[in-house]
Amino acid sequence: MKKIGIIGLGMLGNAITLHLLDSGFEVTVYNRTKEKALHVKAKGAYVAESPKEVSEKSELVIIVVKNAEAVKQVSFGQNGIIEGNHEKLIVADMSTIEPSESKNISKKFQEHNIIKLDIPVMGGPNVAITGDLVMMVSGKKESFDHCEKVLNTIASKIFFLGESGVAHSMKLAMNLQITMLALALSESITFVKKLNADPKKFLEILNSTYFKTGMSENKAYKMIEGKYDTTFTLANLKKDISTITNTANSLGVKLPMISKAEEIYENAVKAGFGEIDYTGIIEYLKKINE
Ligand SMILES: NC(=O)c1ccc[n+]([C@@H]2O[C@H](COP(=O)([O-])OP(=O)(O)OC[C@H]3O[C@@H](n4cnc5c(N)ncnc54)[C@H](OP(=O)(O)O)[C@@H]3O)[C@@H](O)[C@H]2O)c1
Repeated sequence: MKKIGIIGLGMLGNAITLHLLDSGFEVTVYNRTKEKALHVKAKGAYVAESPKEVSEKSELVIIVVKNAEAVKQVSFGQNGIIEGNHEKLIVADMSTIEPSESKNISKKFQEHNIIKLDIPVMGGPNVAITGDLVMMVSGKKESFDHCEKVLNTIASKIFFLGESGVAHSMKLAMNLQITMLALALSESITFVKKLNADPKKFLEILNSTYFKTGMSENKAYKMIEGKYDTTFTLANLKKDISTITNTANSLGVKLPMISKAEEIYENAVKAGFGEIDYTGIIEYLKKINE
């Protein structure tokens, strides 16, 4: 498998495209907003006019767009992926969406004799650029085996999880963790500062214990300084939190913490913090404590 299509050149899709080009793949890309394709075009990607053209030119098409609506748009809308169907085509969706939507989208692809894999990931553009994402995969095992070499280029660790939808369920559980960690660090740093204690010392102590995380060892220092290299926007995490609460509600599962987090993230977006990194939720705490 040499010919790969990428639909969606946001922060994540852009980094994955650059890494695939670096790794010797032929990459055809499409992005709704055309200007965003110029950077990867300069690095050797072919820029298609439509998702249809991407699927016509690719053996594996990876979708990495905002939400389920966007996935459906590029898949089944005008000049969508299904219109470029051919014998060798496999589709893989990396967007973070509802597990139920993921299953429905797989079914709809199947009606057009196209196999769709779910391939949500952990890690952002900073690790995608070196092929070090952590990937969760569900769908047809033989199709996964067929694309494994490409997926191994994108991710350094892959978990095959079985039938369609499961990978997106796991991904939502992962983003629940991310949400809580960002909030826990934000509240502790805010609290320590108010007590006139040193927040860097707080992190040094935390990071000497069993309770340390990658976030407390890295992004937390930027949270103290209020300097953000945005890898995943606060608005996109809010989108995922709502996906988690909607999914929980549809199952009748009560998850009080993530429901509260949804309210906090929603207020932060309304207060104008949507486009900074999700760890910038600490800026919203600063604002409400002014
Ligand atoms: N960044 C991360 O660290 C990360 C990690 C894991 C998973 N994810 C997930 O990966 C997906 C992309 O994330 P990102 O960070 O790259 O987001 P982003 O920078 O906000 O980019 C969003 C992408 O979706 C496209 N899009 C939005 N609505 C669309 C529509 N209706 N039709 C067609 N395209 C549409 C955008 O196109 P335009 O340019 O035209 O707006 C853009 O290419 C999201 O589902 C996110 O939750 C992100």
